[in-house]
Amino acid sequence: MIEERDIRAFLQTKIFGKKLYCFDTIYSTNTFARSLKENDAPHGTLIVADEQTAGKGRQERQWRSQKGKNLLFSLVLKPAFPQEKIRLLPFAAALASADAIEMETGCAVECKWPNDLLVARKKVAGMLIETSVQEEVVKNAILGIGINVNQTVFADDIKEKATSLRLHSSKDVDRVHLLCGVLEELENRYEQLQQFPPQLLLDEWKQRATMFGTTITLVEHSSLLKATAIDVAPNGALVIEELNGARREVFAGDVTIAQR
Ligand code: BTN
Repeated sequence: MIEERDIRAFLQTKIFGKKLYCFDTIYSTNTFARSLKENDAPHGTLIVADEQTAGKGRQERQWRSQKGKNLLFSLVLKPAFPQEKIRLLPFAAALASADAIEMETGCAVECKWPNDLLVARKKVAGMLIETSVQEEVVKNAILGIGINVNQTVFADDIKEKATSLRLHSSKDVDRVHLLCGVLEELENRYEQLQQFPPQLLLDEWKQRATMFGTTITLVEHSSLLKATAIDVAPNGALVIEELNGARREVFAGDVTIAQR
């Protein structure tokens, strides 16, 4: 099990993870984070679990993870920056996680819009960001991250699409070291988002994405279309070119990259 004392002994952040809840089993670290009262969840509060019984993925999907093998955690953020920057949080989180994974394991990580991480073209991590908005201001953002770390067997319905770091490394990956690395990188990227023009972050994210110029299949509001992925706009939307040549921005959806 991931122990609180191990995290505390290794973590070198200023704020992220200083307030910490560590569970053997919980329904969902995101749902738990959302249920916390204001005083119990200052900015940077971290919730970690070895197992989730109702792990949530994007688009109302489940996030399934074998007990004790992976990283499942949520971070409570109180965004102190303009609301439009919140759309770029997934890019900051994806870059931070990708950098930390590469440093810890040497696995080459690719970013896929909107917030998936791939290793060898299969999904190794996903992020779910839930915000609460009051009077058009984001009061709270719960950033939930699931990383497939040491799981080596996946259910039949996802085994073609999912992978883990262990499947691309020669030995088990230390989950506490990886978690602390992700949190340290996240803290730096969050500061970058706060202090600098977001284009810098997007440019770095794009360097890790290989989908541009390729044909993608996009599932958008339960309809499916083929298009070419062109770019990510400064607001975080995916710019696509449809088969008739029309270009437009997509704000939410699922992307599958055609065989490259
Ligand atoms: C996705 O790719 O669909 C997003 C997956 C997010 C999963 C993580 S695991 C920790 C946190 N708690 C949840 O219930 N979900 C997120």
